[in-house]
Amino acid sequence: MYSIHASFSTTKLTHNLNAMNFKKSIRKIFSFQFFLFILVFSVGLNVAGQEINGFSIDKGKNKSDFQAENNKEKNQSKNELLLSSFRPGEIWKDNNGVHINAHGGGILFHKGTYYWFGEHKIEGSLGNTAQVGVHVYSSKDLYIWKDEGIALKVSDDPTSDIARGCILERPKVIFNKKTGKFVMWFHLELLGQGYDAARSGVAVSDSPTGPFTFLRSFRPNAGYWPVNVQEIHKRPVSDNIKSKYCGGKGCLPSHPDTLNILGRDFKGGQMARDMNLFVDDDGKAYHIYSSEENSTLHISQLSDDYISYSGRYGRFFSNRYMEGAAMFKAKGKYYLIASDCTGWAPNAARSAVSESVLGIWRELGNPAVGADSETTFHSQSTYILPVKEKRNQFIFMGDRWRPENAIDGRYIWLPIEFEGDRPVIRWKQEWSLNFFK
Ligand code: GAL
Repeated sequence: MYSIHASFSTTKLTHNLNAMNFKKSIRKIFSFQFFLFILVFSVGLNVAGQEINGFSIDKGKNKSDFQAENNKEKNQSKNELLLSSFRPGEIWKDNNGVHINAHGGGILFHKGTYYWFGEHKIEGSLGNTAQVGVHVYSSKDLYIWKDEGIALKVSDDPTSDIARGCILERPKVIFNKKTGKFVMWFHLELLGQGYDAARSGVAVSDSPTGPFTFLRSFRPNAGYWPVNVQEIHKRPVSDNIKSKYCGGKGCLPSHPDTLNILGRDFKGGQMARDMNLFVDDDGKAYHIYSSEENSTLHISQLSDDYISYSGRYGRFFSNRYMEGAAMFKAKGKYYLIASDCTGWAPNAARSAVSESVLGIWRELGNPAVGADSETTFHSQSTYILPVKEKRNQFIFMGDRWRPENAIDGRYIWLPIEFEGDRPVIRWKQEWSLNFFK
């Protein structure tokens, strides 16, 4: 306090200066003030930095060169300077200082850049419907995300499949090496039809950031039986399952395999709601989605150009109501992390392992452990992100939904650990990619 006070008492001090020393002393005083200014400024920056974007600052950073920092700040926003860790569940600001708006998202890694695609939500409960489209962000380091705008826009034409106000959820994008196209798939519910349509939408682009062109929407695998079809499915379908069910757990009057929902939808195509994509090492891509009134998970191999189906698919976890399913491959095995079916409310996650994509799948239990594991830390799985440069290292990505104010949904990113064959997710208030070292 004393030195700060003294440094600003310039009038008193200058009384004693003779003409010869005047310039020199002024210089000294100003350099002393300058030093103090830097000190105060950097303390202020540090304090402010604790709260910037819900991220911690890089405490190892030396801010001795004021001029350099000052110039940097002119060119970059504060969070660009300082983000170096993940803080699950907190506001996560993009390069413009705006909370990232990419819910139910997934990540594409292409030529050294990560692209995060997700549902753009607006404020209030209206945000649970698609008023804008699919938002895309890019990043080199997974901490700092640049807003790249709307990759796929909803249509102003009310007769379009993707008319504003439809439900467009869980968009995912993969790159097709043969066609050179970026291919987006999403769960689509037609305008004004609630969750009845249960369709898949497809869009393509020449650039990862879009604009994507909507191709069509449809129900998968019309006229095709799954590789593990049972005898019952080929029998005539009874009238009691032709009526509509709410789609949720407990809605169906009996076990889905006795009701034969698969057979019911054989001609028109299978229902497809919560979804994901997975590209295997051999370039084959798979669409994973909740089907048969959400009761059963389907995994369908896509066509070589990724814009339709190959006709080869399997049905798994019958009567388990798996949602938010996300697939990844580790140590030569295929893993799934999924949720139960409880709408926007979180529940206990599930995990499963298989030697091949189309089974046989074996459940491994809730991968979340510790406090709040019964709600997957108040989140629902949306994607498993391979950290490209490292082997067998993955990030669990989940959504903490806020249906009453959809835009305020939060992102839960946590590292996946392995205990033997079993993936395990532990809560972390804050963590960085150094965790994987
Ligand atoms: C969840 C699903 C979300 C959304 C929501 C609507 O179970 O995972 O993507 O469809 O239901 O209630």
